[in-house]
Amino acid sequence: MLPKHVAFIMDGNGRWAKARLLPRSAGHRAGYKRMTALARHVFACGIPYCTFFALSAENLKRPKEELEALFSLFSEFFGKEMGTLREEGVRLVAIGDLTLLPEKLASSIRSGVEYTKGGTRATLVLALGYGGRQDIVAACNRAVALGKNVDEEGFSRLLSTDGLPLPDLIIRTGREVRLSNFLLFEAAYAELLFSEKYFPDFTDEDFDRALKEYALRDRKYGTVRPQG
Ligand code: FPP
Repeated sequence: MLPKHVAFIMDGNGRWAKARLLPRSAGHRAGYKRMTALARHVFACGIPYCTFFALSAENLKRPKEELEALFSLFSEFFGKEMGTLREEGVRLVAIGDLTLLPEKLASSIRSGVEYTKGGTRATLVLALGYGGRQDIVAACNRAVALGKNVDEEGFSRLLSTDGLPLPDLIIRTGREVRLSNFLLFEAAYAELLFSEKYFPDFTDEDFDRALKEYALRDRKYGTVRPQG
């Protein structure tokens, strides 16, 4: 079975750059290039939802110089790529707290989301200023403000991932084996896959191998298989 929704934790850009004696910003640019090509490949495989963890709420504590390099990549993407996405039928969704970003960038992200909202072929989700715990707390506060008790389904509608299918497969590159505050509520039954490669080196073929491994996983959601 193909996953319907694949999510990536793009780790290792800094180490990729360091290994080449390049500034960290060069690693992020290489990661950005890989991200756009990989998203195309994921959609071409017939997977309609693809999420990339591009900036965590905690990443905002990084040095100003690195953040400016990242913001400038995001601005480049939202400034230049929206026409292509729309032509390709790709809808863009941003999850996370955009108020943590510079207002000009946040506004170009909102415009990009609005401009591509008619895309029906695939959905590209970018997590920007995102934190799983923060998203859960914000959802709790929304429930309190609404003055109602919510069940799991109702609660998930208050998260920034509202309307997206749960991630089936989460791939983290860069050797670390943790979720780092990514999709904490949504990942409850996601299959996790960790790659030794730094994100800029994670190829389309690596993704194809990950899909094969995913297909071998037995997704039981806490139940038992009927005896056969
Ligand atoms: C983690 O690697 C990566 C990031 C904090 C940034 C990822 C962002 C991009 C690849 C740009 C995406 C572009 C758009 C337009 C959404 P790291 O720097 O922590 O790596 P390290 O652990 O090796 O230092």
